[in-house]
Amino acid sequence: MVGSSSILTKCASILILGSMILSLDLQVSAQVKVQLSVDTSKPGPKIDRNIFGQFAEHLGYGVYEGIWVGPDSKIPNTRGIRNDVVTALKTLKVPNVRWPGGCFADEYHWRKGIGTRTVTLNPNWGGVIEANTFGTHEFMDFVDQIGSQVYLSINVGSGTPQEAAEWLEYLTTAQPTTLAKERAANGHPVPYKIPMVGIGNESWDCGGNMTPEYYLRQLTIYSRFVRNFNPAQQGNDQMQKIAVGPGGGEARWTEWTDTIMKAWEKRQWSWDMQGLSLHNYTVINWANKFASVGFGEKEYAQILRETLKMEDLITTHSAIMDKYDPQKKIALVVDEWGSWYAPSPGSNPGFLVQQNSIRDAVLAALNLNIFARHADRVRGANIAQLINVLQAMIMTDKEKMVLTPTYHVFKMYVPFQDATFIPVTFNAGTYTNSGITLPRVDAIAAKDVTGKLWLELTNVDPNEFVEIEVNIPGLNANTGSGETLTAPTVDSVNTFDAPNTVTPKPITAKIQNGKLIVKLDPKSVTVVSLGNAK
Ligand code: AHR
Repeated sequence: MVGSSSILTKCASILILGSMILSLDLQVSAQVKVQLSVDTSKPGPKIDRNIFGQFAEHLGYGVYEGIWVGPDSKIPNTRGIRNDVVTALKTLKVPNVRWPGGCFADEYHWRKGIGTRTVTLNPNWGGVIEANTFGTHEFMDFVDQIGSQVYLSINVGSGTPQEAAEWLEYLTTAQPTTLAKERAANGHPVPYKIPMVGIGNESWDCGGNMTPEYYLRQLTIYSRFVRNFNPAQQGNDQMQKIAVGPGGGEARWTEWTDTIMKAWEKRQWSWDMQGLSLHNYTVINWANKFASVGFGEKEYAQILRETLKMEDLITTHSAIMDKYDPQKKIALVVDEWGSWYAPSPGSNPGFLVQQNSIRDAVLAALNLNIFARHADRVRGANIAQLINVLQAMIMTDKEKMVLTPTYHVFKMYVPFQDATFIPVTFNAGTYTNSGITLPRVDAIAAKDVTGKLWLELTNVDPNEFVEIEVNIPGLNANTGSGETLTAPTVDSVNTFDAPNTVTPKPITAKIQNGKLIVKLDPKSVTVVSLGNAK
């Protein structure tokens, strides 16, 4: 009896082992394979570093606490600007920061934020006190500390052309005018560089509810009088003026783009612009927004489907711009984009506080790839927003700071700044959940200024691993290496207590039969470059 039972046990073990091997086998064969070809013979346009721009509005804890704690704070700071945030942002090589809004910009009066400060209100965002302790000089200092550049948003809604013109004179003139002397007395004798100004913000809505024709009149006036006098910005380095552009793809928005672009084509010498903005948030229902945490796979798929509409939007407005500007002189600047969810429970709804998950990391990668594929026209973009607001890079709570999954994506994409777009072809396959079908894989390639090839590979599928076989003609490398970002669940986030749940891990990719083999985790963002291992 003993003998037969042990035989039975052995048989059962063999069967279990057999079925384990079989299931392992099935898992291996179920791994999705994707062939991807890189065509280095047809380099595309430069991926302008400005598509990795940021946006810091006076909103909630975005500026006050997120950036500014004041020189007397116990939180380590340099001239009132928190050091931990500056260190984190330097790593991102932030190309530009849009400031002071947003809707806030159209109620911002710059004089209240220089010299003796005027305490006022922030009616747009919670009706809270605006102390104006973070003003022009503090912003310039912040941008300088993180090694970035300025994108100023000019008040068209409640300001005047004179107020805006004087702000620019105050900032940029090298001549000893009264305003320049005031700037010097406030600590900055040398003129500032202002590479970009936005003429208004959402002038069709919070910026004054203007018709396209009415806004056009404002644009021509502001464009004429908002001058940059900095002697260093009179040649190739001229200030770019960005006009308010559309906020969607429907008829009223296409009419807006058409009106502005048609007028620009027929413009007189006295006005010009170099960019047209586009705003597009990933929101499914404005009245009942999705939660930023505690969601499932269906909401993961719904949000990613929604975000992919960016492609159509850019295609639609680029086509209108092409009609009037076939040489693509005017940049499309997506200067507000990102996810917009329900306010985090317990937060002030006017402060737009939300969490940031691996879903946002994938969403960021998909949008950045769309911008890169349209690099000939999309030459600027600003994710909303930098700290503690909407799809933020960083979250703070008094002295605590945590980096979000979106921060890590922006860090991984640094090599793509000003790199040359290289076309790739691949069959993306599909991922389906709850009747929603999405491309499973997304990818871009680019050569950086040193000629090094970089690949970004996104696996949207939260369940399947994907093996990418990259075919690179004339491949001159024997290994690939980089970083990958994934997470345990679709709603995984980083918190102050668990800051490394969603954090990039190094990966190496082997070269086999002349092809680079990269294994992608489910719901992951991966950046690899080629090299030669010794
Ligand atoms: O980013 C938040 C707000 O969204 C901005 O202030 C406004 O421009 C947009 O509607």
